[in-house]
Amino acid sequence: MNLLAIVLLFSSVLAKKVFIDNDGLTAPIALFPLKAGWEIVGISGSFGSASLVDSMAQISSVREIYNLTQCIPQYKGASQPLLRTPETFQIWEELFGTLVWQGAFTPGYQDVYTWDNVTFDDSKMAAVALIDAVKANKDTDPVYVYAAGMMTTIAQAISLYPPLVNESAGLYIMGGYFDTQYAAGTGAPIINDINTDINLMDDPEAAQIVFTAGWKKLVIGANVTNYLVPSQALYDRILARADLTVEQLAEIPYFQQLSTLLATGNYTENNDQQTLPFWDEVVSAFMVFPDLIESSTDFSVAVDTQFYSPFYGSLRIWGHEFAPKGVKTGNATIINSINDDKFYDLLIDVYFDDFRSYCHDQSIYEYQFD
Ligand SMILES: *[C@@H]1O[C@H](CO)[C@@H](O)[C@H](O)[C@H]1NC(C)=O
Ligand SMILES: *[C@@H]1O[C@H](CO)[C@@H](O)[C@H](O)[C@H]1NC(C)=O
Ligand SMILES: *[C@@H]1O[C@H](CO)[C@@H](O)[C@H](O)[C@H]1NC(C)=O
Ligand SMILES: *[C@@H]1O[C@H](CO)[C@@H](O)[C@H](O)[C@H]1NC(C)=O
Ligand SMILES: *[C@@H]1O[C@H](CO)[C@@H](O)[C@H](O)[C@H]1NC(C)=O
Ligand SMILES: *[C@@H]1O[C@H](CO)[C@@H](O)[C@H](O)[C@H]1NC(C)=O
Repeated sequence: MNLLAIVLLFSSVLAKKVFIDNDGLTAPIALFPLKAGWEIVGISGSFGSASLVDSMAQISSVREIYNLTQCIPQYKGASQPLLRTPETFQIWEELFGTLVWQGAFTPGYQDVYTWDNVTFDDSKMAAVALIDAVKANKDTDPVYVYAAGMMTTIAQAISLYPPLVNESAGLYIMGGYFDTQYAAGTGAPIINDINTDINLMDDPEAAQIVFTAGWKKLVIGANVTNYLVPSQALYDRILARADLTVEQLAEIPYFQQLSTLLATGNYTENNDQQTLPFWDEVVSAFMVFPDLIESSTDFSVAVDTQFYSPFYGSLRIWGHEFAPKGVKTGNATIINSINDDKFYDLLIDVYFDDFRSYCHDQSIYEYQFD
């Protein structure tokens, strides 16, 4: 063990802690916290944009590639929304308009993975694992909760253990758009897609329960994340740093996630799915590197939970003094802008760090090409 590793090990006793729930995972979402010196006390996969098994397998894959399986436990989260069903999802679309992105509610959705592709701790469900992690650290290092899919698993945990909101440091979420009608209405299908608040619409009731539960801090990253996107300039920077071609990089198993991001390495040729914004990554980044945040605004918030409404599952915001009395609201901080350049720098950095000895001694090195 070298001196650097000893220092890191010592500091980890006081490291900030986060529990991650998501409907899938890309590497940076987990790597940003580790890079910032945080400890990930658990990751759970839940139903949402992907089926439960696909979400879980994506998480397992990241844990395996980065050799994080031994020190970051994985748990199984919610397998369905509280109230929403595939049938009511389709009926609502017939009433109020078709959605471009339907996630795991897409008719005929086919799983990519099987449970053979997943390694997880099945001794307890994610909601209970989250509660245990929060309780265990409440007096020393209150756990931050990060939820970038539906809010179902967090709602389950609050239902089982309401003090969760006071015993954790706060909640950071991806989703919670507002004022996006014009953008969604004017653009190509992909513009409709990225301005659809699927995380909330998939389970509006869970989102309302969670956002109004009284967290010490509730931080929402929505619109801001839509404008941090892959580009040819980003691809070129990545390939220059690797000093390899897309094909050569694809042959290195450690860079599987980076290869997925690059796809062909040609922005013009990459399809809509390959050029999606860095939604969840941005929220993870500003949670652990708060210096990235340039502007934010506090609001009272609530989620429309009326089925017969074109805004079922949409976030509504008010200035505190105008917040309704007849609907439960929560206080939230909405991030308006972050330092884009610093975000891209960090993104490239974590992709070129080597995390494979992290579980052994908490060290993170720059990846050494042979
Ligand atoms: C899932 O696991 C099976 C069996 O090990 C393997 O053949 C398959 O390639 C894996 N699927 C994916 C998408 O990784
Ligand atoms: C959280 O703490 C505040 C202040 O002590 C209290 O008013 C509130 O009831 C607590 N909330 C829960 C859910 O325990
Ligand atoms: C959404 O983000 C874009 C780009 O950063 C910005 O121009 C726009 O003002 C934002 N809208 C809101 C409502 O914050
Ligand atoms: C990217 O693809 C477009 C469309 O196929 C092509 O015109 C362009 O030359 C490609 N750029 C590079 C750098 O290969
Ligand atoms: C929300 O914030 C406002 C303004 O700071 C404050 O008056 C109010 O008590 C807060 N509400 C809750 C539920 O914390
Ligand atoms: C993977 O992590 C384990 C400890 O969890 C460690 O013993 C092993 O050396 C690591 N592998 C690599 C390639 O660093």
